[in-house]
Amino acid sequence: MEFWRICSLLLLLAFSIIEGFDHVNAVDADNYISAVGDPGMRRDGLRVAIESWNQCNEVGEEAINMGSPRMADCFDIDHSTAPITLNHLVDEKDNRLGILNGTYGGIKAHSVDKYAAKKEIYLGKKCQVKDKPSPWQFWMVMLKSGNTDTYASRCPSNGHKVGPFPPENRFPCFGDGCMNMPLMHHEYTSVHGKHGKILKGSFYGTWDLDANVTNGVVPCNGTSYYSVTWNKRIGKGSWVFHHVLKTSKKNPWLMLYLRSDATTGFSGGYHYQTRGMMKIIPKSPNFKVRFTLDIKQGGGPSSQFYLMDIGSCWKNNGKPCDGDVTTDVTRYSEMIINPEIEAWCKPDDLRLCPPHHTFPNGTRVHRNDTENFPYDAYHVYCTPGNAEHPEEPFNYCDEYSNPQPQEILQIVPHPVWGDYGYPTKKGEGWIGDPRTWELDVGRLSQSLYFYQDPSSKPVERHWSSIDLGTEIYVSENQVAEWTVSDFDVIVPENDH
Ligand SMILES: *[C@@H]1O[C@H](CO)[C@@H](O)[C@H](O)[C@H]1NC(C)=O
Ligand SMILES: *[C@@H]1O[C@H](CO)[C@@H](O)[C@H](O)[C@H]1NC(C)=O
Ligand SMILES: *[C@@H]1O[C@H](CO)[C@@H](O)[C@H](O)[C@H]1NC(C)=O
Ligand SMILES: *[C@@H]1O[C@H](CO)[C@@H](O)[C@H](O)[C@H]1NC(C)=O
Ligand SMILES: *[C@@H]1O[C@H](CO)[C@@H](O)[C@H](O)[C@H]1NC(C)=O
Repeated sequence: MEFWRICSLLLLLAFSIIEGFDHVNAVDADNYISAVGDPGMRRDGLRVAIESWNQCNEVGEEAINMGSPRMADCFDIDHSTAPITLNHLVDEKDNRLGILNGTYGGIKAHSVDKYAAKKEIYLGKKCQVKDKPSPWQFWMVMLKSGNTDTYASRCPSNGHKVGPFPPENRFPCFGDGCMNMPLMHHEYTSVHGKHGKILKGSFYGTWDLDANVTNGVVPCNGTSYYSVTWNKRIGKGSWVFHHVLKTSKKNPWLMLYLRSDATTGFSGGYHYQTRGMMKIIPKSPNFKVRFTLDIKQGGGPSSQFYLMDIGSCWKNNGKPCDGDVTTDVTRYSEMIINPEIEAWCKPDDLRLCPPHHTFPNGTRVHRNDTENFPYDAYHVYCTPGNAEHPEEPFNYCDEYSNPQPQEILQIVPHPVWGDYGYPTKKGEGWIGDPRTWELDVGRLSQSLYFYQDPSSKPVERHWSSIDLGTEIYVSENQVAEWTVSDFDVIVPENDH
């Protein structure tokens, strides 16, 4: 950053001398800064946390002896000792805090759902790094299971509480307690390697509470599993986050993402204050996301591997979200890169297509324009459950899988996305094709369709959550494995 500052100063001077003082646009166009606390994942003193969600992004019930499902691994390095020492900022006492601990640590909450949100803030305070324009806290590993006990009445429908109802095919549940939180084990980051130059740590566990899993060993079919292991050479390169996710018969619908969330406010899919990594919230159309992704195992034919998943929230009338779960609407858009995932949007079934597509040159094509609409670019579009004027025909989004109504737009590789640096062909970036991406997420997300009431002013699109990872949708014994490194979000210096 300093380098660029100096550069732009010199440039500015040059422009001023040669062209007078009309230099503002030139500087605007060139000066990008990182929106995340740890640009490119290069900081040795890591900040990482983990969270677990049930089907509607809550806790519901803590797993026995695990505490509330929020944990963190944050440390600073003391280079004055030989070998170096890691000063951990969060210990096991903090990490295992749960509703049974009452108000310990000043955490006050009457439900396990609110307890988890407050624990995240508590951990955030311990991990926080001072910075400009604001402090930041941690990368967030997110776990979620799609199991839904319809009899337990745990999830609201579009933000409204609903009573128990009989099971439906779309909701897996093995019986009582199927919405349990996973076991969460933790190997605190420590120093490895012959010369003490490697840092390594992990979170791992299973949703099968009677199973005994070991870090790094993918269990046999019948046992679900997740692990995230991070390692780095001190003073060199990026952290590498290695992820494994396995589904089981009892837990066939699982998600594992690495998230870069806003450091304050609500981040995508959530109605509590959260903590995160983005000290500047990127805004469409001016931001880019860079990272290296190496997929080793795909997770089977129903693995919706998200090359990029962006989340935000605004009301249908264009107002910002305020925590009212009946009118707030979570907005998601995802690029699915598993080549086995097909476009479900079809010229003879417009229900699953967004009403229109906008090309990079601004030309807008309606979905009934069968000559020009790029049907194969869209997996699924679904409209918010509380939209009052959706264009016919439409398909409402799953009303139970968020605390509030949601809108989802899922795209798949296609030539129309090439202009934004996204994959244009099935298989690009998939298994055996590791890549470093620089995605123009800002310009793409500006062009995508999102619902608002017809007379409302289009919102400025701020994305409080930028994630990647996979959602293995209802299929047993599937394994996904991948690494992420070099992650960064960049924004123009003068546009936030
Ligand atoms: C929190 O509660 C658990 C379960 O009762 C207990 O084992 C643990 O020691 C408590 N932690 C603190 C910091 O009091
Ligand atoms: C899990 O396995 C380990 C190693 O075999 C053993 O030490 C531990 O007691 C087991 N834990 C449970 C809960 O079975
Ligand atoms: C805009 O781009 C689309 C798709 O490439 C093309 O069909 C259309 O002719 C272009 N429109 C203009 C005005 O250039
Ligand atoms: C396509 O949809 C637009 C907008 O709803 C409508 O005005 C137009 O008549 C439709 N065209 C056809 C051929 O259905
Ligand atoms: C585990 O399940 C997967 C998917 O059903 C199957 O392909 C694989 O052969 C099974 N492995 C074993 C060891 O049974």
